[in-house]
This record gives sequence, structure tokens and C-alpha cells, in this order.
Amino acid sequence: MEFSIKRKASEKQRSGCVVIGVFETRKFAAGADSFGKDTQRSISEILARGDMDGKAGTTLLLHNVSALPAERLLIVGLGKEKEFHDKEYCAAIRTAVKTLNDTGTPDATLLLTQIPVKKRSVAWRIRQAAMVASEALYRFDRFKSKKEAPRPLDRLIFSIDEKVKEAQAAQALEQGLAIAEGVALARTLGNLPGNVCTPTHLAETALLMSHDHSLECRILEQPDMEALGMHSLLSVTKGSHQPPKLIVVHYKGGKTGDKPVVLVGKGITFDTGGISLKPGEGMDEMKFDMCGAASVLGTLKAVALMKLPINLTVIVPSVENMPGGAASKPGDIVTSLSGQTIEILNTDAEGRLILCDALTYAERFNPKAVIDVATLTGACVIALGHVATGLFANDDELAGELLGAGAVAADRAWQMPLWDDYQEQLKSNFADMANIGGRPAGSVTAACFLSRFAGKFAWAHLDIAGTAWKSGAEKGATGRPVPLLVHFLLERAGKLH
Ligand code: BES
Ligand code: MN
Ligand code: ZN
Repeated sequence: MEFSIKRKASEKQRSGCVVIGVFETRKFAAGADSFGKDTQRSISEILARGDMDGKAGTTLLLHNVSALPAERLLIVGLGKEKEFHDKEYCAAIRTAVKTLNDTGTPDATLLLTQIPVKKRSVAWRIRQAAMVASEALYRFDRFKSKKEAPRPLDRLIFSIDEKVKEAQAAQALEQGLAIAEGVALARTLGNLPGNVCTPTHLAETALLMSHDHSLECRILEQPDMEALGMHSLLSVTKGSHQPPKLIVVHYKGGKTGDKPVVLVGKGITFDTGGISLKPGEGMDEMKFDMCGAASVLGTLKAVALMKLPINLTVIVPSVENMPGGAASKPGDIVTSLSGQTIEILNTDAEGRLILCDALTYAERFNPKAVIDVATLTGACVIALGHVATGLFANDDELAGELLGAGAVAADRAWQMPLWDDYQEQLKSNFADMANIGGRPAGSVTAACFLSRFAGKFAWAHLDIAGTAWKSGAEKGATGRPVPLLVHFLLERAGKLH
């Protein structure tokens, strides 16, 4: 798909389709004023017949509208003008692109990008439009022997107002497309089955990306991790035949000596639960247990594409959690890289066991901040559902930045407590701590566990168990929280307008 920006793409625009918005009831949104009188009159007549009243989510596709040079006109209902905010704007773009996809048009001009959205800039509208459109166009058919037919639509034009600075709009488009590529990578890695997307596959993906974008990449193998003393991470791999990997990638777009932001992503390529085996129903979805890893690699890709002037390090501990004969057993005690000992009371609480060693490993990069991303707890899904990512942090400023980035990116997080009061649930009779804290506040005690390995830096933890993928008819990875993370980094780089 080719995306471009056009100033005041007006009625003279020769195009396969022009897309305009209509509010309830029958009021044209910005953009339509650029049509000639004749065209405006004939559209008004059509609307007056009652086929389109502007309700959100509705569409009307017209052909051969009088005096309109475009072959088609797509009218998208926008709902009430007073209620037209972030979510409604994104929904209108999504509806438009999905509808265009089912037509035969090779290109389309969206006047929707000219509609004001409260508190949001033109750059925001363009960036978001590029993200939403790309997301709507994403397909994953690698394992279908009959591929979906190629679509005719291959060119989208975003219209901007005369007053708008073209350079700013162009930068926003570039950012939106880079984020979309990061999201697509995260979705594809997530959607790949566990027999394809192994720790080795994630490592190869990181190496390929590093080659393409001149990044420094190092893969630590099992012997390397043994030598370091990462016995908590290694305790998870014992039941599996897949070799574990610790993937480390450095992007150096900032000044030498600038402390990096470090992103750590949970890369369990399949989570059976281990000896504490999960029930069979829906277990296939535990192929998504590497979505944290996928999201930090996707974020890295977006940052590299945009060549942001920051230093970023990505760490992915990647392991398969299987119940083999050599697997860790409930009651086993291991010594983590930090030296703290852990009693493994449940082998299904494996995410924290690999993340804790990755967090300790992050110390050596002298980070400005460390953010880990993990499909960590079912309890987080109970707490926040599939709407918000759970956010925990030992630093209020960092938490605020992440919450803000999520709101702007339409990829929201919600802060949860990390109070000391919860720490006592992790008490063990035999080791420094247990790896589970019981049923109450399960996502909080998981975060409390991680906090014990994050004492030396500003740290945040994103629990994406409810947001990383969808179940049911639309089963598939979402690519969240790539938009949140990239917006956070864009803001830090001073590039968010
Ligand atoms: N990967 C799971 C968390 C998960 C479960 C995410 C379901 C999304 C949907 C994690 O490794 C896990 O199994 N957590 C356990 C922890 C428990 C044993 C303390 C859980 O949430 O049940
Ligand atoms: Mn588990
Ligand atoms: Zn897991």
C-alpha cells in the first residue's frame, strides 16, 4: 500500500474514490466544503432521501455522482459531532478502509483526515490514520494453502488543510507507517504457531532485523547463561527440547554515553505451564505468551525505521515452558542471577522467572529506565479485561509518561498499586521468596516479585495478558503495546507533535 498526503485534495481530485464524513443528522464534516456547488447539491439530495443519516459505523457508497471527477463517493457516518473524539475518529478511518477494501477501487482520497478532533493536532490525525489504516489492511495467511485474493486498493491519500505545514504532516505519516510496521511485526510473530516461532526463530528475527538496520545484536546461548548464573531463567527451559536464547540488541541513534532506555520482553514461545500443567481448553493461545518479546522487537523496528535520536536496548529472554522429564518441579529452589533464591511453588508462574534474570542483566547497560512487557498473569485479565494494559512502576514520573503515551496512542494502560503491603504474600519458608503469591491480587504480587530485581533503576512493568491478543472469531495478536511504547520514545526524543 502506498500512502501519501495531499493539500486540499478537492473535488478536482481524479480518483477512484473520495471519502467524506457526515455527522448526525446529515451535516457534512470538514473537507466536503471543497466540492463544487453542483456536487454538494446532488449529495444533499441523496442524503435527503434518507439512505444515510450519519450514524457512526454506517456507510454509503455512490457511483457517478454528478460533477464529481472521482468514480465513487464513500460517505462515512461519524455519529454526533459533539461526541467525535479520538475513538470515533479512529473508528471512522477503520470503517472507511474496510469498506474501500471490498470495492474495486485502486485508490482513494480520504477527506476524513481534515476533520478536527478535540485536543489533537493535524500530525496526530495523520499518524493515527496511517496506523489505523495499516492495521485494517493486515492479513496473516502464511499457513493457508489458498491465499486471499490480492486487493485492488493500493493507494491511500490523506487530505490536509491549506494552512497545515506539509513537513509536519509528512513526518507524522512517516511515524505512523513506522509504528504500523512495528505493529505488523509484533502481530505476525505472535500469530506464528509455537512449532515455528521458537526461541531460535525469535533470535533469527532479531539478527535479521539487526543486519537490515545496522544494529548490534548478541545472542546468549545456554552455556553463556550458565556461566553468568542465570539459574532462574534456565530453570524454565529444563523440560523443553528447544534451546533457550537471551537476545540483546542495541540501537544507537543518540549520543555515545547517553544512557539507553532498556525494553525487556517476555519470550515464552509456548507456555504449557510445565509440571503445573495448564488445562487443555484454549491452551493453543499460550503460543501468544511471547507477545511481550514481539512488542519490544516491533518497537525496535519502528524506532530504527524512524532513526530516532535515542539509545535503545532490547532484551528478550526466550524459553519454551514444557513438562519434560527434566523439568523443574514445584518446590525446587534456584538461585537467580541477582543472587536471591527462589522457591518455585508453581512452574506455571514462569514469566517472572525468566524476566527477573533479564532485569538483573539490564543493570550492566546503565539504563535511564527499564520497561518490561509481559503476558504475565491471568489475574490482570480479570482486573482490567481486554481494554487496558496493567502498569506497575517504582517511579511515578516514568509511570506518568507511559500513561500519557498510551492515551495519545489510543493504546491505553492503567496504573496498579505496587505497595509494600503486597510483598509479604511472596514469603517462602525455604528460600528468599516464592514465585507465587496466592490468588488475591495475582497481577500485583507478580509485579512485586519483579520489583525485587529492579531496585537499581527507574522501572515499569506492563502486563499485557489481556491486551496482546484477541480470542474467539477474531483470534489473533493485536500488536499492543507497540503504539504506546513508540509514542513514549517519540515524546522522549522530542518528535511528537
Ligand atoms: N502466560 C501466563 C499468563 C496468562 C494466562 C496470560 C492466561 C493470558 C491468559 C502465565 O505464565 C501464567 O501462567 N500465570 C499464572 C500465574 C499463577 C500460576 C500464579 C496465572 O496467571 O494463572
Ligand atoms: Mn505460565
Ligand atoms: Zn506464561
